[in-house]
Amino acid sequence: MKELCKLEDLQETGAFGADIDGQSYIVTLGEDNLPRVYKNSCPHLGIQLEMMPDHFLDDQRQFIVCANHGALFQIEDGQCVAGPCRNQGLTPVKSILKGDAISLI
Ligand code: FES
Repeated sequence: MKELCKLEDLQETGAFGADIDGQSYIVTLGEDNLPRVYKNSCPHLGIQLEMMPDHFLDDQRQFIVCANHGALFQIEDGQCVAGPCRNQGLTPVKSILKGDAISLI
């Protein structure tokens, strides 16, 4: 298991950008307070979503946002509900919360 981050890393913005083995990940929490992890790659251009480190969520922390185009992705399943990649989705990655650490499975 490779650790992505600690729960406390999510406090400031509600999300965290982790880089492991050359792959970038978006880590955030679902409504059940369990981690939701996606590859940090927009389905339509294949670029990273954030412009500022760890700033992946909208102000209400209801959606993951593409900072380049304002596209909105559901936190629960990564589906794009508005923007140029509507009806596509972020690629989910299996993860586990153990103690205060979120890790790739
Ligand atoms: S790169 Fe696809 S919505 Fe911004």
